[in-house]
Amino acid sequence: MYIQFPASFLWGASLSSYQCEGENFNSDWYLWEKENSLTLCGSATRHYYLYKTDFTLAKEIGLKAIRTSLEWSRINPEENKIEEEALLYYKDVINTLYRNNLLPVLTLNHFTLPIWFYKKGGWQKSSNIDYFLSYVRDTVSFFRDDIKYWLVINEPIIYIFQSYIRGSWPPGKRSVIIARKVFNNLKTAYIEAYKIIKDIYAEKDVYVSFAKNFRYFMSCHHYNLGQNTIIKKIRDNLFNWKFLDEVRVFIDFIGVNYYSAEYSKFKFPLGDECFQTHRYNYRNGLNWLVCPYGLYKILLELKKRYHPLPVIITENGTVDTEDGKYALYLKSHIQQIGRAIKDGVDIRGYFWWSLLDNFEWDKGFGPRFGLFFVDYRDFSRKKKQFVEVYSQICVHNRIEI
Ligand code: BGC
Repeated sequence: MYIQFPASFLWGASLSSYQCEGENFNSDWYLWEKENSLTLCGSATRHYYLYKTDFTLAKEIGLKAIRTSLEWSRINPEENKIEEEALLYYKDVINTLYRNNLLPVLTLNHFTLPIWFYKKGGWQKSSNIDYFLSYVRDTVSFFRDDIKYWLVINEPIIYIFQSYIRGSWPPGKRSVIIARKVFNNLKTAYIEAYKIIKDIYAEKDVYVSFAKNFRYFMSCHHYNLGQNTIIKKIRDNLFNWKFLDEVRVFIDFIGVNYYSAEYSKFKFPLGDECFQTHRYNYRNGLNWLVCPYGLYKILLELKKRYHPLPVIITENGTVDTEDGKYALYLKSHIQQIGRAIKDGVDIRGYFWWSLLDNFEWDKGFGPRFGLFFVDYRDFSRKKKQFVEVYSQICVHNRIEI
């Protein structure tokens, strides 16, 4: 038996500028890596020079779309300076995608900031929002005729958590008070950017949103009689819904990044008793709780809350030691997406994270999410075995169940 996907369904892969391009020396991450003696991103995958090769590979495996991002610090390397060359470079990136019949979905800001903006206090200061909006205005005007799908920011909650609660990303702060400010500033920046983009496009068709990381929260009933359910609801609301609810009037589709599930619990450590037996649940190479069923549940919830907004899965992927585990992950998640479509959720596309192995932030180059293996010694690319499974799905537009 098969689940057939809609004819216009976008099968794709995602990547981001900083994680792949290399040589982004005007970015806050470059500074952060040096100051904290972390693995240097350096040349990353050399995608900056190899994008033509990479997009040919994407086409060859049957993809129809690519989600990538613009590096703000290339376009505005200094305050009040627009680097024309950078805009022309990205124009060529986009043209290359079209030449390969790949539809571009473009993210304006995938976590990294220009150093000058970072030094002014970044997202902590509401007075800085205007700098971002100028970047949005200039860039979107420039690409107006090329791009139909914009993602203004990537995963605001993950960013706030890593940068302002856990302190493991720049600027390495741990303060709930500052985190709240950043939440509000990102929200305002997003809403204003949305309005600017809509103005620039006027009557022309455009879909604007942001990429939202969702996690499926489950409560562990083994330890108590209800407290875990309460914790689950609080976590679920803060992580999954709060930001989205506050900007819901300003989104044209929901960009879903989904990787894993999580148990909410009062007691530590969490034993295996909590490991409910949904089909396919296991821990991946990063110890994330893989739960394809959770994606289905999130998708149904999106329909319940935000119907008729369409959904695009803007990221989904894993890291593992065996090829078979990648294939299992891919198939089981796409099956759940198919099931959600059957149940009436309007899903328009699926993007695997990532096209290439790349720089996984504070974890360096260890975790390999790519469809293509990157040999960091000579930057050669090698198709991973499980890609065959994905190609079959893309080409036939259906999945076996
Ligand atoms: C981010 C990516 C990251 C991926 C895997 C997402 O949260 O958008 O930048 O590499 O997850 O951790």
